[in-house]
Amino acid sequence: MAILVTGGAGYIGTHTCVELLNNGEEIIVVDNLSNSKKEALNRVRLITGKDFKFYQINISDRKSLTNVFEENDIEAVIHFAGLKAVGESVVVPLRYYDNNLTGTIRLCEVMREFGVKKLVFSSSATVYGQTEQMPIKEDATLSATNPYGRTKQMIEEMLLDLYASDPSWSIALLRYFNPIGAHGSGLIGEDPNGIPNNLLPYISQVAVGKIRQLHIFGNDYPTGDGTGVRDYIHVTDLANGHLRALEFVRSSTVVEPFNLGTGQGYSVLEVVQAFEKATGKHIPYRVVERRPGDAAVCYANPKKSLKQLAWQAKKNMEQMCVDTWRWQQHNPNGYESKQLV
Ligand code: NAD
Ligand code: WQD
Repeated sequence: MAILVTGGAGYIGTHTCVELLNNGEEIIVVDNLSNSKKEALNRVRLITGKDFKFYQINISDRKSLTNVFEENDIEAVIHFAGLKAVGESVVVPLRYYDNNLTGTIRLCEVMREFGVKKLVFSSSATVYGQTEQMPIKEDATLSATNPYGRTKQMIEEMLLDLYASDPSWSIALLRYFNPIGAHGSGLIGEDPNGIPNNLLPYISQVAVGKIRQLHIFGNDYPTGDGTGVRDYIHVTDLANGHLRALEFVRSSTVVEPFNLGTGQGYSVLEVVQAFEKATGKHIPYRVVERRPGDAAVCYANPKKSLKQLAWQAKKNMEQMCVDTWRWQQHNPNGYESKQLV
């Protein structure tokens, strides 16, 4: 039986597909390529030496999704498909609510129709909003502060209701902290459209000469050096968390949230220094105003994931920087770069 991976052509999806295939799982990928390239899936095939089916569909399209379930014997779903840019979600909220909520509703309806009730869902630490409790535990109050985050919070609530109505479902709600890094091959990585929103893609584009300097959003936070602190996690560690979550939904019928983070916070300046040290590249920067909505500090308490999923992050900041840089250096224009490592 196969694992259906929605959004499997994206950043975290491709890395998870690699780990699934390397672990002998059969996968089917669906993605509408709204924020990804088909080439990413060719690279997954190249890394693993394995093939899989790909359907270019929108998961909100019931007919196309039903066809995927009719044509394949699906055991469980890992659901990455969604829009994820916080700033954009403030500008076009309806697009986010429509895509993320409708997509997930359609997916769950079709899963139910075919009796597939094992689901691993990509949630986000963003559901915690501006909580004071550090490190953050899964039982912290949820209070997302932007439309993107609210789509994740609403989906979590919807999945809790779905489970309450039918406890034969088994659902893992994975709350990712800040995924960075790339596969060690340098063949797959994060490929943002236009100017990156997130710190590491921005730093690596400065390093490769595409952007002149980094803007650090504020150095007057109540943190050690005044810059924001986050829990950065290597995308391969994150991908492996999905394999553990898959085992979890295979062996239980519950709905549970899990933090996927390292439990360690790094400030923006510490990340810049780590990147410079790991890559030998100088990163010029200028401190500018705080970015509205940014928390000072955010890092996970990952103990529940260790206890119940037997998962913990293994890769350190140096590896995250080295791998980010290898990907960026060999693919300065992302998947449109011709050169292969
Ligand atoms: P990504 O944009 O690289 O991947 C998402 C994929 O979903 C893309 O390939 C996109 O084309 C596809 N997609 C979007 N809407 C779709 C639809 N309606 N039908 C079919 N395909 C659709 O993002 P990512 O970083 O890989 O994130 C994966 C998931 O994890 C997302 O749900 C995101 O919200 C969540 N998440 C990401 C982060 C992060 O920092 N990257 C952090 C927390 C949570
Ligand atoms: C990290 C730190 C910035 C860019 C976001 C989403 C969250 C989740 C992960 C999906 C902060 C600072 C950043 C820059 C900077 N995604 N920074 N200059 O904001 O923690 O989380 O991605 O679910 O929902 O909100 O990540 O990488 O944008 O920022 O100084 O150019 O770097 O202020 O302190 P964030 P980020």
